[in-house]
Amino acid sequence: MSVSFDVVVATDSERGIGKDGRLPWRLAHDLRYFRELTTAVSKAGARNAVIMGRKTWESIPPGHRPLPDRVNVVVTRDPVYALPEQVLRAASFDQALEALQGLAVENCFVIGGGEIYRLALKHPRCRRLFVTEVASRFECDTFFPEYRGDFVLESSSEPKRDNGLQYSFKTYKRKGAF
Ligand SMILES: NC(=O)c1ccc[n+]([C@@H]2O[C@H](COP(=O)([O-])OP(=O)(O)OC[C@H]3O[C@@H](n4cnc5c(N)ncnc54)[C@H](OP(=O)(O)O)[C@@H]3O)[C@@H](O)[C@H]2O)c1
Repeated sequence: MSVSFDVVVATDSERGIGKDGRLPWRLAHDLRYFRELTTAVSKAGARNAVIMGRKTWESIPPGHRPLPDRVNVVVTRDPVYALPEQVLRAASFDQALEALQGLAVENCFVIGGGEIYRLALKHPRCRRLFVTEVASRFECDTFFPEYRGDFVLESSSEPKRDNGLQYSFKTYKRKGAF
């Protein structure tokens, strides 16, 4: 049985998530929320893991990667793709989950991008989605898959405002789960 995981994403009103290899918006509060959500552990000395596609890895400014205090796993078909020593390379999404099995990570988060989200949402070990829903439309070339048929809203924050944009933090759980 492989590791269970949650998905973390920020979408615009049309499920857009990226443009030209970057985020279409800048929301400082959301970046903080992302960092706290994916880093927080309940046991001293424990660590969480983040799984991402190779293009998302490359979208993180070199000075900010690997994401600190988390096990970073990069999914790529390139068997010689160069990564820092402490970063795990996985040849498939399932191999990323398998690589974490022996490491006893506390929580595992899938953090994008579009290709990896598509694999994650179809996976039976996907438990929950943490979605920052930005209430505006942006020009995007990368999209989050349709999820409302398979996942049901569990909680929603009050609407927030940052950088002139309104957004809220929502969690969804898989229908029929728990
Ligand atoms: N809004 C958000 O929350 C959010 C979060 C993350 C990313 N993003 C945005 O999303 C965009 C990047 O997403 P993307 O869909 O273009 O790329 P991606 O999902 O980050 O990475 C795609 C890469 O993953 C590898 N891959 C995909 N499927 C695979 C498989 N089955 N087996 C092995 N490797 C596989 C391949 O790497 P190789 O080509 O090396 O083989 C592929 O090119 C950027 O604009 C980024 O800013 C947004």
